[in-house]
Amino acid sequence: MVTWFYIHKYLLLSLGCAAMEPAGSLLDNAVGVGDLVLLDPLSEKSIVSNLQQRFQHDFIYTYIGNVVVSLNPYKSMPIYTPAKIEQYRNSNMFELPPHIYAITDEAYRSLRDQDKNQCILITGESGAGKTEASKLIMSYIAAVCGKGQEVNKVKEQLLQSNPVLEAFGNAKTVRNDNSSRFGKYMDIEFDFKGDPLGGVITNYLLEKSRVVNQAKGERNFHIFYHLLAGAPAGLLADLKLVKDPNKYKFLNHKNCIHIEGNNDEANFIAVQQAMEVIGFAASEIRESVELVACVLKLGNVELSKVQEEESQQQNSMELLEVSDLMGLEDMVLVKALTTRTVEARGDRVSTTLNIAQACYARDALCKNLYCRLFSWLVHRINKSIKVHGESRRKVMGVLDIYGFEIFEDNSFEQFIINYCNEKLQQVFIELTLKEEQDEYIREGIEWIHIEYFNNAIICDLIENTQKGILAMLDEECLRPGIVSDSTFLQKLNNVCAQHSHFQSRLCTNSKFLSDMSLPHDCFRIQHYAGKVTYNVEGFVDKNNDLLFRDLSQAMFLAKQVLIRNLFPEGDPTCLNLKRPPTAGTQFRTSVSSLVKNLLNKNPSYIRCIKPNDHKLPCVFTEELVGHQVRYLGLLENVLVRRAGYAFRHPYEQCLQRYKILSHKTWPHWRGDARAGVETLMATLPISPEEYAFGRSKIFIRNPRTLFHLEDLRKNRMEDLATIIQKIFRGWCCRRRYQDMRKSQIIISCRYRGFSQKKRYIRKRQAAILIAAFVRGWRVRKEYRKFFRANASKKIAEYILQWKLRSYLLRLRYILPGMSPLDNTWPLVPFRLVQSTHEELCKMYHDWRCRVYRSKMTPTQKAIFEEKLCASELFKGKKDIYPETVAKTFVGLHLEQGPNAKHQKLLGSLPDKLIFSELVHKIHRANGKVVTRILLLTKANMILADPKSAHIKSRIALGEVQRVSLSTLHDGIFVLHIKQGSSAALKGDFVFVSEWVIELATKLFRLIMDCTNTKLEISISNSISVQFKADEVNMQLVQAEQKNGNLPVCKRKNRILEVTVS
Ligand SMILES: Nc1ncnc2c1ncn2[C@@H]1O[C@H](COP(=O)(O)OP(=O)(O)OP(=O)(O)O)[C@@H](O)[C@H]1O
Ligand SMILES: [Mg+2]
Repeated sequence: MVTWFYIHKYLLLSLGCAAMEPAGSLLDNAVGVGDLVLLDPLSEKSIVSNLQQRFQHDFIYTYIGNVVVSLNPYKSMPIYTPAKIEQYRNSNMFELPPHIYAITDEAYRSLRDQDKNQCILITGESGAGKTEASKLIMSYIAAVCGKGQEVNKVKEQLLQSNPVLEAFGNAKTVRNDNSSRFGKYMDIEFDFKGDPLGGVITNYLLEKSRVVNQAKGERNFHIFYHLLAGAPAGLLADLKLVKDPNKYKFLNHKNCIHIEGNNDEANFIAVQQAMEVIGFAASEIRESVELVACVLKLGNVELSKVQEEESQQQNSMELLEVSDLMGLEDMVLVKALTTRTVEARGDRVSTTLNIAQACYARDALCKNLYCRLFSWLVHRINKSIKVHGESRRKVMGVLDIYGFEIFEDNSFEQFIINYCNEKLQQVFIELTLKEEQDEYIREGIEWIHIEYFNNAIICDLIENTQKGILAMLDEECLRPGIVSDSTFLQKLNNVCAQHSHFQSRLCTNSKFLSDMSLPHDCFRIQHYAGKVTYNVEGFVDKNNDLLFRDLSQAMFLAKQVLIRNLFPEGDPTCLNLKRPPTAGTQFRTSVSSLVKNLLNKNPSYIRCIKPNDHKLPCVFTEELVGHQVRYLGLLENVLVRRAGYAFRHPYEQCLQRYKILSHKTWPHWRGDARAGVETLMATLPISPEEYAFGRSKIFIRNPRTLFHLEDLRKNRMEDLATIIQKIFRGWCCRRRYQDMRKSQIIISCRYRGFSQKKRYIRKRQAAILIAAFVRGWRVRKEYRKFFRANASKKIAEYILQWKLRSYLLRLRYILPGMSPLDNTWPLVPFRLVQSTHEELCKMYHDWRCRVYRSKMTPTQKAIFEEKLCASELFKGKKDIYPETVAKTFVGLHLEQGPNAKHQKLLGSLPDKLIFSELVHKIHRANGKVVTRILLLTKANMILADPKSAHIKSRIALGEVQRVSLSTLHDGIFVLHIKQGSSAALKGDFVFVSEWVIELATKLFRLIMDCTNTKLEISISNSISVQFKADEVNMQLVQAEQKNGNLPVCKRKNRILEVTVS
């Protein structure tokens, strides 16, 4: 009924989600069922057949809720590719077919996102695939976590620790060719981003007995074979080794050297490279292989011979070589191997060991050497991958511990290994089955109790501090007296006889007295995984795990640094007499601390199952698998899973995580957390059957519901992220806008400033330009004349000037002579200078006249003045005048020399004689002509008779009224006398003078000088003359004369007609 309910529910869910799920989800194309919770009918058988069905179709992984059941395929599978990793990355567990990657991804995301430390517990028997699973987990994490130089280095170091530890700690067993002979728990540490920072490896109990002895068909630890096969010849020679493993007793006695498909040679190189990557120094690598070589060679030391040789003081070659490798005196080693020193009451007693004891000592030394080397390697790796700094880290632990072992001959090691597995099963039960059921009861959730086997009773049988097997063993080891494995067994027979899981032939009241399968020297424990018969031989010794002090002291003397460091207790200066804890106690302590550690983390499980005992692919042995299914408690696991709830969450945490999904609870829920979760769930589209409310937690029935919730949360987170993003973007944009606005204001302000400046500059330039233009215009205006427009004028002017200048300059050379009489003048060169030319001509003439004048003597000047005066008086008025111009007014025309009378007359003159001439005087009455001497002095005009030189008339110049002359070419000179004067008695005088012009001029000048009045000179052809009382009109006529130049005068009364020629 319950089953159908589940199937129905799952199918509904799957159908509901089908549209959202990618192809290949848990339910798609599944062979059998991917999750055993869905199995129907549910039984151990059906589980096995479902696993078989899936296994045959290469589906090696199957879920039980969040537990992965893994079947070893014993063949390489195409499901570990990078594409697969990418597929499983960040996807929900149930979205894809079951895979180890899915559970790893779940754990990693929970670590990264929810800050929960994780551990992945890989359990299963030897050869079931635990180590492979742990490597897949590590490689998946390496692939999905962050990248970067430092992170990649850490990843590499963590990954490379595997080949090193496998080489030294793994060996071929009958069950597994690469069986882990030690337990390994690795804590990988991450930072808050989920990037690996480093890690810590804890190793548990190496099966060191394997160094000296292996079961049939098994090998020693891989490193021995790797070294011999892979070391170069030089190294082998240095280590004094030969290549052939058969030459070494620790390797050859079970006749198993090679493993099929295993390349020891390549592995040696890989190990060396891995050590280099981790950070081992070359010297450290070298010392490690030297130590391995020492162990190998020690195994070959034949102690029977050694003792013989020692007595002969001669040691075997092998021993010498080992001593050499260790850096020890050979005798020291020999002594340590063959003798034993015991201290008794302060005395040191040395006893020689017999051969068996010496062999035991040698084997003990070899086991110790190798075991300590292994621990040193782990320590050294830890040193490299250690996380520095104090930052908070998240941890993911991966536990890969040796699987449950049932051999034919099981010894102390198997006992310890199986105890460890028993404890891990306990953890599993604690965390999944019991704790789950207990919690339901605690929380008041309705629950149908599921019966399951709780192996606590077996753990108690082994580890009980009072009556536990390990306590008994310790007791026996510490007990004084004769102690042996059989005394130990006896003790067990006594103490554990009543225990339901302990069986022994010799138990008191034993039911097994007749059980032939149980030898006398054995005891049997009914483990959770089956019955295991342990042979007690070696239990005491192995538990004691003591190394003779002689050996550790010898090792401390070694010069090989590593060997010396591995045996600090050999230092004689710090003797520690305190007995070290037994191997069993040590193991118990470390296992309980491991369990404690695991219980503090969020566990994930990988339950490895071995499909067959022959390491064969595709072979499924139902019986074997059934057995594992049984002891792993898978059926109970499924039952609990089905009946219970897949997930639970304390109310506070649940509310905190999912409150964002409801408006009623987001962003704040003020009330009680439980009420908050109830309100929240009520608002979500999840069926109420899917969850239940406990006292402090909510229980979610189905993983899908949880994933649904997670999806809702993821979507809501995305929405919120979008809102935050939106607000942030808005804020960014606003800020950007404000910044831009500010910038814009600044820019526009600057721009405005700039443009204004530019404008101003332009305006200024324009103003300057305009001003310049105006000034220019003004200047041009002013200087327009100088402009081209005026050029022609200018040029014309210039040319004109030039012409004028050249005209003037030229004129200079063609000027006429300096004579004022020279009337020549150059022709005017062009009309323009016509007036100038004329003016110049005039000027020139004036100038040369002036020059001429300036050169004149006063006499000449006086003459010219006279001439000038004459000109003024007569020029143009009298026809005769032009003829007189060229004639000098000599004044004295009368010859003076021979005529004494004349001389006398002239000498009698009271003042200076100015003019003298022999003139013709016209008779007033008849007009006849008489000759007279006319003398003109400064004050008088004197008329004298030429013959007698008597003065006829004397006329004072002041009495001269005026003078009249005709216009004609004659010498008529009429002297008008002032009426009333003495001279006026006879009336006016009419003369004919040859020099009439000169006479009139001189008279004019003399009267001017004398009386300062201008003499009136009338020029007319009709002259009124006063002859005594008669006024006679003298008419001058021009006509041809017969008597030369003298005029012909005819008086008719008052008219005197004068004809002149
Ligand atoms: N997923 C796998 N794919 C292919 N082969 C596998 C796978 N898992 C395991 N094997 C094979 O099985 C062998 C044994 O596996 P592994 O060494 O992991 O077993 P184990 O559980 O660690 O055993 P032990 O307890 O002895 O160490 C491997 O060497 C490998 O050949
Ligand atoms: Mg392993």
